[in-house]
Amino acid sequence: MIVAMEPAPEIRVAADPNALAEAAAREVVAVARAAVAARGRFTIALAGGSTPRESYRRLAEPPLAAEMPWDRTLVFFGDERGVPPDHPESNYGMARAALLSHVPIPSDQIFPIQGDAPDTDAVAAEYARTLGEVFRVRRGEVPRLDLILLGLGIDGHTASLFPGSPVLKETFRIVTAVHAAAASIPERITLTYPIFNAAACVIYLVSGAEKAKVVRAALGDRGGAVPAAMVRPTDGRLLWILDRAAAALLPAGRTS
Ligand code: 6PG
Repeated sequence: MIVAMEPAPEIRVAADPNALAEAAAREVVAVARAAVAARGRFTIALAGGSTPRESYRRLAEPPLAAEMPWDRTLVFFGDERGVPPDHPESNYGMARAALLSHVPIPSDQIFPIQGDAPDTDAVAAEYARTLGEVFRVRRGEVPRLDLILLGLGIDGHTASLFPGSPVLKETFRIVTAVHAAAASIPERITLTYPIFNAAACVIYLVSGAEKAKVVRAALGDRGGAVPAAMVRPTDGRLLWILDRAAAALLPAGRTS
């Protein structure tokens, strides 16, 4: 029997959070330019949380801002918290403040998830429909984004895929509403494994000593036990960019 196995993730260790931000921003530019050269546009899903903020800032400033094909870029979100866009915890709000309001990207190419709507199931279904339209997929097909950025929570969650949640078993819907009791903002809307694992490239950004244990849980010899470790694109690249503090507990020989 032939068993298909995804290649091991690439792991890159940056000296500190600034070097991580620079490496991540440069990767985004490289993936964006390659996607535009190959397909005429670049589709990305941004990560929430605080780790990507500095990468977003760098993409908004020279020299990298000028290297990005903004007019060909379509921006989606991996998840959103149940707050309005101007709330300090809004993932869209963070991305807008750090990046999107500073670059010449047409507003109809930015697809925020409406976090504060009363009917989160309807918002999730609508977002899935929008993705389906933009990617012109047929029923049952899954959109293939060029790049998905993700972060890692201390409990091993990524996007809003939290440990123990029924959404971890989702095989059909590409966007769902979730209730994450452990999170400071429990009502959330998240993309799911089917769309993460259909991506052409997924990049994790993880910084700080407080993440070292969960990085080991996700990437160490016995990795695979936390939700983030189950993002394994079936036909795509998987890159983890860590800073030295986050990588500190990885077994020797695991990093490049
Ligand atoms: C969210 C996120 C979440 C985040 C991690 C890491 O909306 O909460 O998308 O998955 O990426 O919790 O967050 P930090 O970068 O803030 O540590």
